[in-house]
Amino acid sequence: MDAFIIQGGARLSGTIQVSGSKNASLPILAASLMTDQPCVFRKVPELSDTKTQVKILNTLGVETRWEKGAVHTRLRDTDNSTAPYELVKQMRAGVCVLGPLLGARGHATVSLPGGCVIGERPIDLHLRGLEALGAIITLDKGNIHAKAPKGGLRGAEIYLGGTFGSSVLATDNVMCAAVFAKGTTVIECAACEPEVVDLADCLNAMGAKIEGAGSPRITIHGVKRLKGVDWTVIPDRIETATFLIAGALTRSPITVAGGRPDHLIAVLDILKRMGVEVERKGNKMTVVPCERPRATSLTTLPYPAFPTDVQSPILTLMAIAEGSSQVTERIYPDRFMAAAELKRMGANISTSNGQAVIHGVAKLSGAPVMASDLRAGAALTIAALAAEGETRLARVYHIDRGYERFEDRLRKLGARIERVKDTEDPLVIAAAAGQQ
Ligand code: EPZ
Repeated sequence: MDAFIIQGGARLSGTIQVSGSKNASLPILAASLMTDQPCVFRKVPELSDTKTQVKILNTLGVETRWEKGAVHTRLRDTDNSTAPYELVKQMRAGVCVLGPLLGARGHATVSLPGGCVIGERPIDLHLRGLEALGAIITLDKGNIHAKAPKGGLRGAEIYLGGTFGSSVLATDNVMCAAVFAKGTTVIECAACEPEVVDLADCLNAMGAKIEGAGSPRITIHGVKRLKGVDWTVIPDRIETATFLIAGALTRSPITVAGGRPDHLIAVLDILKRMGVEVERKGNKMTVVPCERPRATSLTTLPYPAFPTDVQSPILTLMAIAEGSSQVTERIYPDRFMAAAELKRMGANISTSNGQAVIHGVAKLSGAPVMASDLRAGAALTIAALAAEGETRLARVYHIDRGYERFEDRLRKLGARIERVKDTEDPLVIAAAAGQQ
């Protein structure tokens, strides 16, 4: 297991290039199951999550070749339609192969993804949506078995809203299954995230007939088959936001290049309200730092509102802001693991019932902390850049799931950060003891 050692206080400068979107890549790679033609997916970030997705596709009969940020795929056989637990448990988003498999092959078995540290990760909306298309769903020994009825899936009008509003991957799964359904499907209360739009655009480029992606109502007219595609995924808006906040935290006028400002309106609005302007020139965004950010309040909601995946990073900026801020987390009410670790760095944060109150302090101090999920890990990393003294961040494998070569790219901006083997992690010590 690796850790980061970070010396805080360095000013950053220069330009950082945004990677392709992890959350667009995962469902778009799964579209390779829906055609027997070769596909190329470009700007797919090299992350543990995308590598796991490629492994899942390999077990499902898709041959893949990864070169220079492009994944080349070709469906070779359809003998196996079971996505195995040992891979899906590593990355619950592996559930996004369910819709493509059911649509293309008429049957699928995918391990129930289970929960993760940010909260219970139900899939009731996925299953309800697929059943509305006529699928017969059974759960057995931790697996979802989905089967199309004799005549095949049929288009339907589906309301896909849940307790927490729309669902990104449920929208993706139902949209993919509906591509080959007979007739027309309307998804009401569809997720509007840019990653859903990117998937719909990619499927349309393969010959699907999908309208309304990006709005709460998506219409899918069934087609018989899809052709191959050469597709470039959109830039990662969550990574873009993370780097902009790193600039604001360290009062550094860094430029984040290759992003999509139009995917970040809610985040740019909050930064502006906190006194941090971001100059935009095409796809370049440059932070105009302020001496000390102002407190503000926000609620995380489905797109286009403030994204839950930027909640941990913005918490770090609020931790050193002038005044008291409040964050209401409406997507994953338990997603405040970063708060507990930030308090070890001197932050003054209290959390309860999906709300965090943050009383800004002048400075954070370096301390030994631990990543618990990829966004909390990224938040602690950028907090450490601004803190006084040294921070040791354990379990950076969480960060490797969603941020490509994170420490190398931050070092290029002038950050004092290095990756070390973590011999102090209790899990590492226990494992070593077990080997003796
Ligand atoms: C996607 O997960 C993202 N992952 C998550 O990013 C992101 O946090 C999340 O959307 C919300 O924006 C990928 O795209 C791979 P949801 P997803 O279904 O689709 C509830 C990251 O850090 N819900 O939109 O799994 C659910 O519990 C990851 O990159 C149901 O109730 O999330 C949550 O409260 C973390 N029933 C809310 O909906 C369901 O069937 C939104 O979840 C499905 C979801």
